[in-house]
Amino acid sequence: MSDAGNDARWTLRGAHSEYTVAVPEHGRWLELVAWGPQGVSEGPSPVEYRGPVPFLTAGDAAPIEYATDAARPFTGADLVVETAAGDRRVSVSYVDADGDDGALAVTFADPVTGLRAVLHYQVPPGTDVVRRWVELTNAGSEPLRIVRAGSAGFCVPTAHGARLSYQWGQWAQEFQLDHVDLEHGGFTVGSAQGVPGHAYVPWLTVRDQAEPEGSTWGVALDWTGSWEITAERDTGGLTRVRAGRRLADGSLDLPAGGRLTLPTVTGGYSPDGLDGLARVWHRYQRQLAGGRLTPRPVLYNSWEATYFAVDAENQLALARIAAEIGVETFVVDDGWFVGRNDDTGGLGDWTPDPAKFPAGFDAFIKEVRALGLNFGLWVEPECVNPRSRLYAEHPDWVYAIQGRPLTPIRNQYLLDLGRPEVAEFVHSTVDGLLRRHDINYLKWDFNRPRTEPGRGWAAGTGAGGRVDLDGAHVANLHRIYEQLRRDHPHVLIEACAGGGARTDLAMAARADVFWPSDNTGPLDRLAIQYGFLHANAPHLLSSWVTDSTGLFDPRPRSLAFRFVLAMAGVLGIGADIRHWTSDQRTEAAFWIARYKEIRNVITHGTVHLIGDPGHPRCAVQYTSPDADTVVVLAWHTGRLDGTGLLPSRPVRLPLAGIDPAGVYRHGEQRYSGSHLTAVGLPVRWTAEHDAELAVLRRA
Ligand code: DGJ
Repeated sequence: MSDAGNDARWTLRGAHSEYTVAVPEHGRWLELVAWGPQGVSEGPSPVEYRGPVPFLTAGDAAPIEYATDAARPFTGADLVVETAAGDRRVSVSYVDADGDDGALAVTFADPVTGLRAVLHYQVPPGTDVVRRWVELTNAGSEPLRIVRAGSAGFCVPTAHGARLSYQWGQWAQEFQLDHVDLEHGGFTVGSAQGVPGHAYVPWLTVRDQAEPEGSTWGVALDWTGSWEITAERDTGGLTRVRAGRRLADGSLDLPAGGRLTLPTVTGGYSPDGLDGLARVWHRYQRQLAGGRLTPRPVLYNSWEATYFAVDAENQLALARIAAEIGVETFVVDDGWFVGRNDDTGGLGDWTPDPAKFPAGFDAFIKEVRALGLNFGLWVEPECVNPRSRLYAEHPDWVYAIQGRPLTPIRNQYLLDLGRPEVAEFVHSTVDGLLRRHDINYLKWDFNRPRTEPGRGWAAGTGAGGRVDLDGAHVANLHRIYEQLRRDHPHVLIEACAGGGARTDLAMAARADVFWPSDNTGPLDRLAIQYGFLHANAPHLLSSWVTDSTGLFDPRPRSLAFRFVLAMAGVLGIGADIRHWTSDQRTEAAFWIARYKEIRNVITHGTVHLIGDPGHPRCAVQYTSPDADTVVVLAWHTGRLDGTGLLPSRPVRLPLAGIDPAGVYRHGEQRYSGSHLTAVGLPVRWTAEHDAELAVLRRA
């Protein structure tokens, strides 16, 4: 709910939290009063400052929600606008505000240039997140130029120093959770790749160093292009997080009469540390999924088994075994279309290769379906190989700078999706595949960032001039996802970008699941999934059981370990199961059957992350919404030699969020809720027993 007081002050209330902002009397900006648990706004503001600000301006110290460089000239602005005459320091002042249940819009305007900025706030009901976005309008008669296009500033009180948590990575090593203590100065993560990228996740959390398990604030971006999040702690103990687009291609034009909506940034609050904040994101993402939040099918993906050497015979051999062990959806990955025998050709020509499917593609799909399986297909429709018919016909469709050589990455170029013909081609290609063939799962990949900040088609067409390449690409990508979902509601879409390079809140609202990494080795994957689950709900976590050892920590682990790990989200199999022994297939069938019993709890349950991958205690607890079923997945992360040979006591996994007075059964054993919370669930690791799936039921 939002309520406006006489002094232009509003409180937005979440399920357990609130966010209060006010316009000071001078009217030059909106500032934060308090952000935290319900009731936090009653009392002196935890972020206001006292005393003079020598050698600075008042705005440099104030907890400004959205600062122009006129309001905050020295310590970092969110918005920098330049006039046609080249002047900056465009300043705005309060006009009016409009609010209703859970939403607020505060308008500021500049009488000199005619710039209007509407700051929007929305707290989706039942969540503890606040969504913020800004709408800029040039109501003047001269063009303006947007030099910095931040979406929001979030202020966090960190009197004893700030502890930031972020996720770094690279290909095959995404979502590595790490922390940095920030005493003074700044810390920045971002991407200039036209996609969120492997290097950092558009997500950052802040807490006071004195309370690492207490109040925790997070910021995550809904933007699938280049981005930046910066945290700066001032000498007064305020940490201000700026988040928004990174204008890697230069400034944006805002012509007279023009309008620009900047991406949404979502803030989250939890009183329970990083683990509690993970639940805040989970609840919000589940709400974003809406009616599509259903337990995902168990899938088989053929990539690691056959790579590009796809043909009907080997795919059907895999599909038969997959069906036997309980798989529900069979996905043919890269390699099914003409010209695609390796990564040097074929992208762009989305026709099934008749040499690989001699009886026809539909006959092949029919055979897969006759096994009782649903069918899924891999595509990468935004990319093109120079060796393809598409490129021969439309060389001008790729991002390019006239007169300069193109930069291939993985032997491919990137289509300019902002161009209407290209967007139409991409949409109709995917839509056509879904209409022509019996498909109900799509894996949409993207294996290269954008390098060329230019349009290949601009010269000679009159379409030159400055274009918001990133904005146009992202807008069309989102629109195509939305159209496909609307027109093919039974098709689940998995978003992938060479692993996890395209995961942000905007994609979480449009895709059904993410492929977080190409690294499926067990211990490497554990670290990836541990980070991923801090920012994303389990229904978004696609995970396969494979034979891969991993790249960074290749210590061997059991098949059980791999299964229990993949069960932490959406279970898939990616191994070459043609080579599995009958014992391995029997074991696989056992785990798949168990997953089907618990996936409802994995999809809808409350998540508690226990320990971490560097710790002998590493587990994830899922508690069903009625709290009657508790699923614990646990992994032995240390060395295996010697375990179970010497006298030892079990590892204890302390559970959370359960009824202390309740009695929980695990097999023959009964535990009180308080025992499970205070002492923990015992797990005895041995060299053979390196993973545990425990399902506890309230007696
Ligand atoms: C990268 C993806 O992450 C892999 O899973 C696989 O689909 C390959 N691309 C196919 O080229």
